[in-house]
Amino acid sequence: MSGVSRFGVSLESTLLDSFDGLIKQKGYRNRSEAIRDLIRGFLVEKEWQQDIETVGVLSLVYSHHARELQEKLSGMQHDYHEAVVSSTHIHLDEANCLEVVILKGKSSIISSISEKLSSTRGVKHGKLIMTTTGSDID
Ligand code: NI
Repeated sequence: MSGVSRFGVSLESTLLDSFDGLIKQKGYRNRSEAIRDLIRGFLVEKEWQQDIETVGVLSLVYSHHARELQEKLSGMQHDYHEAVVSSTHIHLDEANCLEVVILKGKSSIISSISEKLSSTRGVKHGKLIMTTTGSDID
């Protein structure tokens, strides 16, 4: 367990007002909580830029009726089986499928797999959440 440090921040009151409005809207209980999240976000971003071992969660929404699409997406995941930790398929409704793919590995590889899957013809929406296993982020 590491200790908690306090620090002061100076900024224009208009900027602080906007920040307070936004954090209230987002449901943060206080500024410290919001700032902690922002800092963690920066650290995750830094890890992704450094191309070290990290984690990504990719969601794909696609048409159930698109020909051979599910086989195609599954084939790509087999090609990168070392990075694909898990994938879950949900039948959203009569016509649409949601697939959630958890990826682990170098950020460049996770990004490239995600781009390939998302840009496959028939995929309506692909969104990658970049997260981290980072030991330096509590
Ligand atoms: Ni389905």
